[in-house]
Amino acid sequence: MLIKRSVAVRESAYCPYSKFKVGAAVESVDRVVHTGTNVENAAYSPAICAERIAMGSAVASGRRQFSRIAIAAEVADSLEFVSPCGLCRQFMSEFGECEVILVRPSDMERVMVTSLDHLLPMRFDKPKDSLNN
Ligand code: THU
Repeated sequence: MLIKRSVAVRESAYCPYSKFKVGAAVESVDRVVHTGTNVENAAYSPAICAERIAMGSAVASGRRQFSRIAIAAEVADSLEFVSPCGLCRQFMSEFGECEVILVRPSDMERVMVTSLDHLLPMRFDKPKDSLNN
């Protein structure tokens, strides 16, 4: 279901510049799903990735704990999966560990399952007893 949601929302991607559609569907621990797509901009750098739109929407609805996120994008090489950018890895890590499911819309049966810990080891985390406060 989560995989299908990521593929379906991908059709709403606003990506006139890259033409690279990405869809994301994140499931919170209370099993509610929020979706997002990439949203690009004429000035290029304000573009936002699908993962951050999906997770930001979930946070705005009061969710802060996530069990998994499916990310759908298509690449020419049938053996490859699109993996989240570094900025999104840090962004998603803010809310703790979460399973990451990489999806190719052309072959939804075959996905890659990984985790934020694997994608971003030794990440910067909230300072616990920082000397600066
Ligand atoms: N993009 C995402 O939405 N998620 C990713 O994980 C990788 C990249 C978007 C950003 C931009 O709109 C387009 O894909 C091409 O980089």
